[in-house]
Parts: sequence; structure tokens; C-alpha cells
Amino acid sequence: MQAGLILMRRDLWVLALMPIGVVAVTIACGLPVAAQQATTAPNEPTTDVGQLFASTCGYCHSDGGRTAGKGPKLMDSPRSDDFLRDRIKLGKEGAMPAFGEAFSEAQIDAILKYIRSLKPN
Ligand code: HEC
Repeated sequence: MQAGLILMRRDLWVLALMPIGVVAVTIACGLPVAAQQATTAPNEPTTDVGQLFASTCGYCHSDGGRTAGKGPKLMDSPRSDDFLRDRIKLGKEGAMPAFGEAFSEAQIDAILKYIRSLKPN
């Protein structure tokens, strides 16, 4: 009789704890979803020059253009705007691809502005 009573109490404990477990699992699964939704803010600009630079130019111009990689460092360039614009448009044989076809004048202007505004990290 005594043993049966203890068993029943144990079962009750498990039953009492089950809802807490369900809530904990729900919270654990829900958090990453909430975090993902937070990063895709509706007002984010679709064409961010920094991102464009990182994906298109970053392979050769390291750290967003701040340091030399396969290509030279672009931050604090002593070159003229025209020189930089032409290099982006025309590229350089065997060194850098030309982007005059890929980007509009406005996009190249935006990239130039981006390069001129680079600051050390
Ligand atoms: C495949 C590698 C590569 C990629 C990709 C690349 N570059 Fe270059 N870039 C170079 C190299 C190498 C040079 C140096 C060319 C030379 O010898 O004058 C250079 C030079 C430049 C210069 C002139 C800097 C200077 O002082 O001579 C600018 C501006 C520039 N790149 C911008 C860009 C931009 C903007 C992009 C992306 C749209 C880009 N590059 C993508 C390799 C690359």
C-alpha cells in the first residue's frame, strides 16, 4: 500500500512538470525565429554600397577597401576622382576586371563616394 502511494506521487510530479517542459521547448524554438525576423527590418535600404563593395570588390580590396589585398588599399587614396572612376569603369588588364558595363554612372559615383568616405575600423 505504502509503495503504491509513493509511485502515484512520482507520477503526479511528472504530470505537474510536463507543462513547464512544453513551455521551455516552445521558448527555445521561438527565440531564433524572433531573432531572424528582427534582422530583416522593413526599412533597410536594398542597395547598400558597403555591401555591394564587400561582395563585388572585397575579394581583392580587403576590409571594405581599407587594406591592401590582391588589389591596393583604397582608403585615403592619393589618386584623383577621375583616375579612380576610370579604373573602376575600365579595370586593368590582368589585374582588375572592368565594371563599366556592370554598373550605372550613378552606382559608380556611389562607389567613389564610398571609397572617399572610408575611415579606419
Ligand atoms: C580581381 C581582383 C579585383 C577586383 C574584383 C576588384 N579590383 Fe580594384 N584593383 C585590383 C588591382 C590589382 C588594382 C591595381 C591595378 C593597378 O595595377 O593599377 C586595382 C585598382 C583599383 C583602383 C585604383 C586604386 C589605385 O590607387 O590604383 C580602384 C579605385 C579600384 N580598384 C576599385 C575597385 C572596385 C570599386 C571594385 C569593385 C566594383 C574592384 N576594384 C574590384 C584588383 C581588383
